[in-house]
Amino acid sequence: MKIIVCENYEEMSAKCTEIFAELIKNKPDCKLGLATGSTPEGLYANLAELYKKGELDFSKVKTYNLDEYYPIKATNDQSYRYFMNDKLFNHINIDKANTFVPNGEAADPDEECRNYEKMLDAMGGVDIQLLGIGQNGHIGFNEPDEKLCCVTHLTDLTESTINANARFFNDVSEVPTKALTMGIGSIFKAKKVVLLASGKNKKDAISQLLDENLTTNNPSTMLKLHNDLVIICDKEAYGE
Ligand code: GLP
Repeated sequence: MKIIVCENYEEMSAKCTEIFAELIKNKPDCKLGLATGSTPEGLYANLAELYKKGELDFSKVKTYNLDEYYPIKATNDQSYRYFMNDKLFNHINIDKANTFVPNGEAADPDEECRNYEKMLDAMGGVDIQLLGIGQNGHIGFNEPDEKLCCVTHLTDLTESTINANARFFNDVSEVPTKALTMGIGSIFKAKKVVLLASGKNKKDAISQLLDENLTTNNPSTMLKLHNDLVIICDKEAYGE
């Protein structure tokens, strides 16, 4: 595990941008595992800027997102498909047919999850999986629980996550209570995992990620078993 502690959010985003930009330059047909939430917004803005300057080409890049609310229409401005189009895909030269997000409109969510996992297996793992972290240590939508699921699955969101994400909706009652998410094993198919954390509300989750224990009560702690994990956080999330 490698940890990079940054002064602030901007520096954290810049460090992460360096890692992604280097990969995209060296491997134009790379596969990126992407995440939503407010934390990666700085990275996405930086990547769009580098594209605008002519420094990056996304024409051969493929992307695979971690999760999506269920049920939700892709056109809903709170869907993760909408978020990805709005924050990144609409600003770069990626072919949208090469961008994959679990389908929140699927009639059969279990079938959608099985197909998503099959697709991940068939493409052989992303080069980098980007992760944020929930205040309760969730990654993707793998919530703290007695058991964690290995594969892409339909899950119930915890009250803590529903409340944390309510800030993006008009009212907490509008937050979907379920989601489709890659499982811990799906995330582990990535060759490299980069986790971003910013702000003091992530401090408790990060300090558990940095201690010696594994616990399903903080799913992010499982990442300690990955052989190429980079944590990039700001001082507030690190706890200084
Ligand atoms: C959401 C997403 C996660 C994300 C987390 C943190 O629930 N499913 O992938 O990491 O929230 O979000 P934020 O970055 O806004 O704190």
